[in-house]
Amino acid sequence: MSIDVARRYWDSLFQSMEGERSARSSAWLNRHLKALARTGNRLVDLGCGTGDDVRVLAREGFWTVGLDFSWNALTFARDMFPRGRYVQADLRARRLPFGDATFDAVIARCALHYFTLKETERVFDEVARILVPGGAFAFVVNSSKMLVKRMRYEYKTHKIVEPRTIRFADGVVRHFFTRPELAKLLRDDFEVEYEHEGVFRQYEEQRIAWVIRARKKGTPPKRSRADRSDAV
Ligand SMILES: C[S@@+](CC[C@H](N)C(=O)[O-])C[C@H]1O[C@@H](n2cnc3c(N)ncnc32)[C@H](O)[C@@H]1O
Repeated sequence: MSIDVARRYWDSLFQSMEGERSARSSAWLNRHLKALARTGNRLVDLGCGTGDDVRVLAREGFWTVGLDFSWNALTFARDMFPRGRYVQADLRARRLPFGDATFDAVIARCALHYFTLKETERVFDEVARILVPGGAFAFVVNSSKMLVKRMRYEYKTHKIVEPRTIRFADGVVRHFFTRPELAKLLRDDFEVEYEHEGVFRQYEEQRIAWVIRARKKGTPPKRSRADRSDAV
């Protein structure tokens, strides 16, 4: 099977990080920890990269799974945290490799803006499917306010795939979200609990991003403490 441009891009990026072992800050999670744990401790990090958030959340008592399509990222994550659980999968796939209502919480830091709108809709549908009713979904995505800056300074050539979905010179598609767009993506399945649009630090870069925490509609299942950690 041929490897696609996006996966090759991320694999080579994580390859070149070989040897770099300093963890990036997971401070963005601090204000969400309690809310993420409300229905239970089973959590998946979509597009986990080198697994910084997975490690922090495991230390906080979550039963964590990291998902990414980059083998190099997952190798790095495994080296840093061998006890972690990792799944190699493509978020653009029709179905994520988890059963319905497998997780109490889903997080995704800077990993859900690499798709066309149609693919994004499917990812959000899949998040709703794998979460329990009452489960939390916290994520960070590019804001549309970032688009002008990015077009002006960083890339000479680009192709507009759809409104605010751009394929830059590196061949990777990036989407830049407006608030109405996020509202539409979340509307049917989620209630928004927290939202913030502003400067967000990722790697050495400062981006303008949305930080959103939403809760899946519905009544959480009644579970005993014993049920809490041995999922999937
Ligand atoms: C900007 S990095 C963020 C990594 C991590 N969440 C963090 O904040 O450190 C984006 C991550 O999304 C992953 N990713 C991008 N497209 C993906 C896809 N289609 N399926 C699975 N993972 C993907 C990349 O491999 C990369 O690890």
